[in-house]
Amino acid sequence: MRRHLLVASAGALLLATCTQLQPARPIPPRSRGAELYERHCAVCHGLDGRADTTVAELLRPRPNSFEQGLFKLVSTTNGMPTEEDLVQTLRRGMPGSAMMSWGWLPDPDLQALAHEVRNLAVRGRAESIHRTATITQQALSLDEATAIAERELLPGPTVDAGSPIEITPTTLDEGERLYRQHCASCHGNDGRGLPALQSWPTDGTWLWPRDFTSGYLRGAADHRALAFRIRAGMPGSHMPPTALSTSETNALVGYVKSLIPDSAGDRHVQWRHTVRVARLPQLPTATDAAAFAQLDGIRLPASPLWWRAEACSEVTLRAAHDGRELLIQLEWADATRDDQVRPGARLGDGIALQFAREQDPPLFAMGSRALPVNVWRWHAYDPKETAGMADLFGSTHQGLDVPTNLQPKPRSESIELGGIPSVATETGAGLPLTVTTTWQDGHWRATFRRSLAARSNREVDLAAPGPVLFATAVWNGSLDQHAGSKSITTWHVLELER
Ligand code: HEC
Ligand code: HEC
Repeated sequence: MRRHLLVASAGALLLATCTQLQPARPIPPRSRGAELYERHCAVCHGLDGRADTTVAELLRPRPNSFEQGLFKLVSTTNGMPTEEDLVQTLRRGMPGSAMMSWGWLPDPDLQALAHEVRNLAVRGRAESIHRTATITQQALSLDEATAIAERELLPGPTVDAGSPIEITPTTLDEGERLYRQHCASCHGNDGRGLPALQSWPTDGTWLWPRDFTSGYLRGAADHRALAFRIRAGMPGSHMPPTALSTSETNALVGYVKSLIPDSAGDRHVQWRHTVRVARLPQLPTATDAAAFAQLDGIRLPASPLWWRAEACSEVTLRAAHDGRELLIQLEWADATRDDQVRPGARLGDGIALQFAREQDPPLFAMGSRALPVNVWRWHAYDPKETAGMADLFGSTHQGLDVPTNLQPKPRSESIELGGIPSVATETGAGLPLTVTTTWQDGHWRATFRRSLAARSNREVDLAAPGPVLFATAVWNGSLDQHAGSKSITTWHVLELER
């Protein structure tokens, strides 16, 4: 298997081959890319692209340091991304990870961001080469190290992606033969990925041959994207590049496509939606299922931040307002109702909505000090109240009446958060919130009700004109999801019909 790790002393070899390399694009104004990067990306990837942030620690898979030059979604023979590869990644995000779609940003912004990623990769790489040279007492200036890094990160020629062919029994047979020969050892005969090959290295990379049937595809499911993955491999993962002829590529891609169910390809892409909230003369009661069924249900894909195949993968939202109050109902699948304290359980089931006014504060970090968010949350029980209760189970204390079935009170509150450090300290400091929940046939429904007007300056004011951003987070207690190990959606836009 080819390794994609960069070798610091590869300069000479690269100089010899660089005549085939694709020319770099004209440089857009750098300040725009740097500004966008700082605002949207640094919370996870770090200001310098080294991904040594608090948030990155909490993600599985976690982002790579850009200086390693290991990008999974590439189209080139040397495994280095073109700026177009990076733009594609940004547009679609990487479903199944915390890397959301940034497709709502205009193209010039995506290009500026792709360019910034490359700048950070070159700078990080150059500093690393320079450091090594200093330690090994080689005379190498930072400028010279930068020139080497530039070359190492230049994308090579595009791999031969072939083109879609008419699928016939013959091409499918040929595709299947190639698949069994080259791919089934990792992805399994049925395309579901062999669980035995899951590995979770200490650096937090999550290496699991993709289950093609799940629809969690990092790259798209069209011919070109699949051909690029298969021909170029996915640097930084166990997915190897392959040397196939054009006709073999075409047949194999056709077969892999047949393993991906229709419409699954983009199912988990976290596009940003605009949700228009209808104004009704009278709001339904929270438990009036028939009235809620009349409202449009908007499907919001969700991704677990700490990968679990069984974690919540989508939330359906229905909302209405009457000019005074807003009603938001969230529905999600959860086969195990978890609202009782169990031995060893840290948190039951739960759901939260976070709101912000237009500024795109850090999503997963729940805002920042400068850009706080308002979080409405419901947890089946309050871990603080139940602390110690779970420990009583199985307790051998004589004469202690230990209940076998503890059904504590749920916790619901509206709270202001300003980044991860604030989460622990703000617990219990919120305003009361009306949340009605039901669990039926493997589905939770949580209906939040609040006045449009904010009750304090720490709450989002929904009565003021203009759109509001919102996102949701879901915890599954029986998967022991707690704190950061939840499923989240990206920011969506909420617009109230006036
Ligand atoms: C909430 C955290 C988070 C934020 C915010 C975020 N990313 Fe990522 N990003 C990730 C994770 C996690 C991965 C790794 C996904 C994987 O390997 O499956 C990733 C991967 C990437 C990659 C590697 C792509 C590849 O081909 O392997 C690039 C480039 C990238 N992100 C750029 C950005 C940019 C630019 C932004 C801002 C517009 C951004 N990210 C915002 C979490 C984040
Ligand atoms: C050594 C194990 C291994 C082999 C052999 C292998 N893969 Fe993979 N494959 C992986 C892993 C691991 C991933 C997921 C990488 C990641 O996202 O971290 C993957 C991802 C993919 C993806 C990307 C799906 C997405 O998320 O967009 C495609 C397509 C794919 N493999 C097809 C193939 C085909 C076709 C073959 C045979 C030519 C093959 N793989 C051989 C391990 C393997």
